[in-house]
Amino acid sequence: MDSTHSQSHHLLLGVTGGIAAYKSAELIRLLIKQGHTVQVVMTEAATHFITPTTLQALSGNPVFVDSWDARIANGMPHIELSRPADAILIAPASADFIAKLAHGFANDLLSTLCLARECPLMIAPAMNRQMWENSSTQRNIEQLIQDRITILGPGSGEQACGEVGQGRMLEPDMLLEGVQTHFTPKLLAGKKILITAGATMEMLDPVRGITNISSGKMGFALARVAMQMGAEVTLIHGHATAQRPQVSHTTFAGTANDMYKSVMQHIATQDVFIGVAAVADYSPLVSAEQKIKKSEDTLTIQLKRNKDILADVASLPNPPYCVGFAAETEHVLEHARQKRQDKKIPLIVANQANLALGNDNNSVTIIDTNGEYPLDTADKNTIAVKILTHLKHQLN
Ligand code: CTP
Repeated sequence: MDSTHSQSHHLLLGVTGGIAAYKSAELIRLLIKQGHTVQVVMTEAATHFITPTTLQALSGNPVFVDSWDARIANGMPHIELSRPADAILIAPASADFIAKLAHGFANDLLSTLCLARECPLMIAPAMNRQMWENSSTQRNIEQLIQDRITILGPGSGEQACGEVGQGRMLEPDMLLEGVQTHFTPKLLAGKKILITAGATMEMLDPVRGITNISSGKMGFALARVAMQMGAEVTLIHGHATAQRPQVSHTTFAGTANDMYKSVMQHIATQDVFIGVAAVADYSPLVSAEQKIKKSEDTLTIQLKRNKDILADVASLPNPPYCVGFAAETEHVLEHARQKRQDKKIPLIVANQANLALGNDNNSVTIIDTNGEYPLDTADKNTIAVKILTHLKHQLN
């Protein structure tokens, strides 16, 4: 269905001299895990921070440093290495290398192949905060933006020198996200999408509650991929163990009631609502103000029905396009079809609860007004791409 996430791309990873170069090792691992191939080119300074042998072992390709490297037969490594690349990523990009790029210098292999490139260039700056704030660096960055070079980061926080501020290289997982975003067609550009994710916890007392085993992985994957596809994403999430993506707006809502209120607050401006959260159907009639003490052998708790967020959103006078999830342990498709009808939503995603909840992989069937579409078992990121691509066609 989608070409970008399943297709591998060939990345030329440039590593320049900075302490963040040690993170390039992890970045290569993540890029390869995602299916990309990586060709590393280092500056001479970078080899003082991490060895070419390490990056060669991780990338599975010879690492080049020198313009005069005899391993490239025709003596033109800057052309040979840059032509097959779908994109060049410089991570870390030192202040010096940024200055070179801004001025078109070509006095080593990496700067030469950047100048000779035909493909897009992304850079992940990494330097001391004063170097980052320095007007020369800022001027150079302005120039690179004008030259349509993508700047990933930098982040802020504690730096290797002990100072705190902006200039840290983004973490490898964030850089991977930048790369994925770069390669993803902007199918959902201009769309506003609200996604609920994770589990709610209905509090019995201040420290205990009724919850479920949702990890947030499926909802977070949808939020991440929707962002990569260019949507403005609002994520309202409950308790989750999965790593949360960076999206346009994020709100934590721990209980079904909090989630209901938060969704209703944001829904008016949305084009799409995707309810992935495992929302509790019931909550305690009373939540004790103090911790409940044990006494009798049995304890009875009275529960009351919670409002159905998805059904209420779908019944708004002018509802967004609504997508529900049905996690079932038996009669998966029958229950999902019924839920789609009961909640009056155009699209529901059916899955086997005991296989889906908490796992990295999922196996789902999309049910909409036109039919039923079983998807191959895949990781939740891939499933998210397929669901959103399908959704895009429905929006059309
Ligand atoms: N949902 C919701 N608000 C609720 C309950 C569920 O928005 N209070 C949404 C979920 O996010 C999901 C879909 O509705 O998209 C799940 O449907 P539902 O029938 O509520 O599933 P269960 O809670 O599992 O219901 P049941 O226990 O009856 O199977």
